[in-house]
Amino acid sequence: ASPTLYDAHGRPLEYLRLAITDRCNLRCFYCMPEEGIKYMPKHELLRYEEMLRLVEIMTGLGVRKVRLTGGEPFVRRDLVPFMERLASLPGIHDLSLTTNGVLTAPHVPALARMGVKAVNLSLDTLDRQRFFEITRRDELPQVLRTFYALLDAGIQVKINAVVMDGRNIQDLVPLAELTRELPVEVRFIEEMPFNGGSHVATPESLPWNHRRIRQHLEAHLGDLVPAYTATGATASEYTMAGHQGRVGIIAAYSRTFCGTCNRLRLTAEGGIKTCLYDQGVLDLRALLRGGSSDQEIAQALSQAFYHRAANGFEAERQRPVHQLNFESMATIGG
Ligand code: GTP
Ligand code: 5AD
Ligand code: SF4
Repeated sequence: ASPTLYDAHGRPLEYLRLAITDRCNLRCFYCMPEEGIKYMPKHELLRYEEMLRLVEIMTGLGVRKVRLTGGEPFVRRDLVPFMERLASLPGIHDLSLTTNGVLTAPHVPALARMGVKAVNLSLDTLDRQRFFEITRRDELPQVLRTFYALLDAGIQVKINAVVMDGRNIQDLVPLAELTRELPVEVRFIEEMPFNGGSHVATPESLPWNHRRIRQHLEAHLGDLVPAYTATGATASEYTMAGHQGRVGIIAAYSRTFCGTCNRLRLTAEGGIKTCLYDQGVLDLRALLRGGSSDQEIAQALSQAFYHRAANGFEAERQRPVHQLNFESMATIGG
């Protein structure tokens, strides 16, 4: 086994979030403005070959789990053959992806064949009209098709629902009710300010934080019983009497889980973020395209990971002229 890298705060590197593209076929209110975001020119995105090389280097530093994010991974051409190559890398024990489900259903058999065990599916409401208002596209039927295809294929599904004041509060209970008959996890996420600049919230003023989400669910569904949660996980997980599935709450803005954070992010244009909230700490595309060796890249990555902030959000807030980063989640990679 390869040596694991630890940062200065004793947290291991285990998990890579790899953004396949910044492009997306939805326009979610909490992620981007209606007109969309300015996409990066194609030549500025990493090529699959470049991603594979970086992932191999990272497996040498201890990465065992890779989650593909975006944008929407399936809007990039030839994703499935790329995933097959990733899945066959000896160091990768866990390959998964986060998708909006619009284009995913036809690829579910391929995902199952290559050994993908779990998929995180973004779905903020089960109501077609509100889905349209939130995502600005009428794609709920496609997303539900993906949901049922995943269940049929025996792939574990986690639904990600962002909790938005005044937009989908009436949907929290119906979404949580899915867990009564189905063995799925439904995770409610605090809304973060990564929306391409369309609106602002601070953790202090966040209308629906993790505590209020829990109270709301308990008021309607009875006790949420804390369940075992893996170290490094974002979600606090709960079971409910008589339910087959689980509910999770992700304090993404209150950040209750930074102390065990085990992840690194590679953005679609080859930037490294050691925290969702940092501005990017290393330009790997420049190293790749400037002819650096694997060893030089590994060295730069180790340095960046070692020096990462205990809590990237607080570190950003300490900057002299602080401006919250209002970048879209589609460019950060979620
Ligand atoms: P698992 O690998 O299944 O644990 O998924 P995950 O929760 O790490 O990833 P997913 O892509 O499903 O993201 C769910 C939500 O958690 C999204 O809103 C992410 O932006 C947020 N999230 C993921 N990683 C981090 C993190 O390191 N810090 C913070 N604050 N939020 C995160
Ligand atoms: N706040 C919280 N979660 C967000 N996501 C996208 N934008 C935001 C935001 N502003 C979620 C999506 C997706 C995951 C990768 O990130 O719902 O499931
Ligand atoms: Fe696309 Fe995900 Fe952003 Fe929605 S949240 S617009 S699905 S990248």
